[in-house]
Amino acid sequence: MADNITVPPGLRGVEVTETEIGDVRGLEGFYHYRQYSAVDLAKSRTFEDVWRLVLDGSLPADEAERAEFAAAVRPGRELPPAVLEQLPGIVAASAGANPLDGLRTGVSLLGAASGLRPLWDLDAAERRRDLIRVAAATPALVAAAHRLSKGLEPVEPDPELAHAANYLWMITGERPDPDLARALEQYLILTIDHGFNSSTFTARVIASTGADAAAAIVGAIGALSGPLHGGAPSRALETIDAIGSPERAEPYIRELIERGERIMGFGHAVYRTDDPRSLMLRDVAQRLGGGRVDLAVQVEKTVLAVLAETKPDRPLYANVEFYAGVVMDRCGLPQEMFTPTFAVSRVIGWTANVAEQARQRTIIRPAARYVGPPPPAPVPVSR
Ligand SMILES: CC(C)(COP(=O)(O)OP(=O)(O)OC[C@H]1O[C@@H](n2cnc3c(N)ncnc32)[C@H](O)[C@@H]1OP(=O)(O)O)[C@@H](O)C(=O)NCCC(=O)NCCS
Repeated sequence: MADNITVPPGLRGVEVTETEIGDVRGLEGFYHYRQYSAVDLAKSRTFEDVWRLVLDGSLPADEAERAEFAAAVRPGRELPPAVLEQLPGIVAASAGANPLDGLRTGVSLLGAASGLRPLWDLDAAERRRDLIRVAAATPALVAAAHRLSKGLEPVEPDPELAHAANYLWMITGERPDPDLARALEQYLILTIDHGFNSSTFTARVIASTGADAAAAIVGAIGALSGPLHGGAPSRALETIDAIGSPERAEPYIRELIERGERIMGFGHAVYRTDDPRSLMLRDVAQRLGGGRVDLAVQVEKTVLAVLAETKPDRPLYANVEFYAGVVMDRCGLPQEMFTPTFAVSRVIGWTANVAEQARQRTIIRPAARYVGPPPPAPVPVSR
């Protein structure tokens, strides 16, 4: 078609929609949810407050609004009996696979077992109810699948506990230390949303078809599971562990660079300065303290010095993954839980984006330029 517009590969820099949810300013090292700095929110607010902000557009104005949102969210943590019955089979069948594979299947089943209907057929309140349902159940699915994989029974959610503390409770079956619960809560707040990334776009494409809330989130989890997106917190932690002591950092890093390898947890596609999430997570990690935290801080300094010397033309800094692994580890999460835990927070951003997309009631349907052999060719006679 003559009026088609050709865009850069990967749609880099192309604005495909308008959003009121948030944005990333890579040159400034700043990102925001609605009109607030995400880092400021993580410093002073609870996960549920920020969830309400991202989904509904405003922070709770008072305790009554806060209680109202908590009441909407807490029942969603309970998994339907059909899901609880099937989960052991899903976990057994996906043993050894990417833990996101089990989550993806669990969310799909949750949607079907909860009778979720196409977003197209729902009004705004019904869409919100379904999106909260999927988001609230995600940590319960992750925690239950983790426990089953260890031969343990799932732990029922505790309605008295806030979201992050309840997540730790459902994983460990122990009352969480408030400092660790707060540290994890701050990590979760910091990773709720981050611009128009691949999984968010995927969720919006599916939402634009009018499919149900679970379908959109299953697609987003699928996108997140790809190695270019799902992140490297466990690989960053492995690098720190492989280094082992501050004096080994420099030779180790130089050798990696000489071999042309990348240092996990450094560099970012959008940020050309400090990643604000990394700065805040370093503070969170240092507040908790510990040998691994001290080592990570030393390693970061060394990596920055070596990268500045060996890659002077490219500003490279620690990204969110570097301290994310350190913080999650310090909070008692095993490495295989790092990426599923990222999904626990990012599902809030996905569902907010799905709600926004569903309001537009326009299917996302771009075009592709056909570059194959010229049609119409005669169809060969089959032999
Ligand atoms: C995140 C990442 C994919 C962003 O990539 P990008 O912005 O597209 O950067 P490019 O791939 O174009 O790399 C540009 C230059 O910086 C270098 N570079 C980027 N990240 C690097 C890293 N972590 N270690 C060493 N060099 C790095 C590249 O080697 C390249 O240098 P060259 O031109 O001399 O070959 C990349 O920085 C990376 O692979 N980081 C490590 C993995 C990681 O931490 N992922 C989690 C991301 S949240």
